[in-house]
Amino acid sequence: MRLDRFISETTGLSRKESSKVVQSAEVTVDGVVQKKGAFKVPQDATVIWNGEHLQRMGPIYLMINKPLNCVCANHDSAHITVFAHLDIPISDKLHTVGRLDLDTSGLLLITDDGQWSHRITSPKYKCPKVYHAWLAEPLNAADIEAFAQGLQLTGETTLTAPAVLDIINEREALVHVHEGRYHQVRRMFAAVGNNVVKLHREQVGPLSLDADLTPGDYRFLTAAEVALF
Ligand code: URA
Repeated sequence: MRLDRFISETTGLSRKESSKVVQSAEVTVDGVVQKKGAFKVPQDATVIWNGEHLQRMGPIYLMINKPLNCVCANHDSAHITVFAHLDIPISDKLHTVGRLDLDTSGLLLITDDGQWSHRITSPKYKCPKVYHAWLAEPLNAADIEAFAQGLQLTGETTLTAPAVLDIINEREALVHVHEGRYHQVRRMFAAVGNNVVKLHREQVGPLSLDADLTPGDYRFLTAAEVALF
């Protein structure tokens, strides 16, 4: 990898800033000052800047308890992004694994490993997600059957895939879906004449939101958790 890119990836500096740092003779590679951004950094080289040994991180996998009122995007002019909650210099290289609405909270996975997130979001893998929904109107037993049969969402040409609706009480339910259509859960309830007043994701595949994470908190996944997908 080029030295300027290496500096950028390990420090969070922009490519332009990294080039300046390199040109100013501030960086050594294996003890030798390197002033060319295009210099190819050998695999196990020791790169030092400002007395700090810079090392590339492996892929990043984390879960965050997404708070309300932040968007699943790297940049947004109107709202803060989920990445504002992370204390990671390279958060620009990360992406959210699928999206939760501005007004949905709960389990959100973040990574820089595109293949891993593809296995969670691609319809091909049918990865289940569990949402806790609070409803404006009372639920009824017919809703369970309607969710199981598939629902006709406004503007869609195909029915939703069979989903499981577990009624907790008159106005609360768990919904198990393995599709990720736009506003899917809210639109499913709209299709049975109801209205979601609060939505929280509890589970993605076999992974549940860590109960120790308060809204906005995050933690890195363990190797065993990463291997679940
Ligand atoms: N379904 C929704 O309607 N919203 C979400 O944020 C996630 C699933």
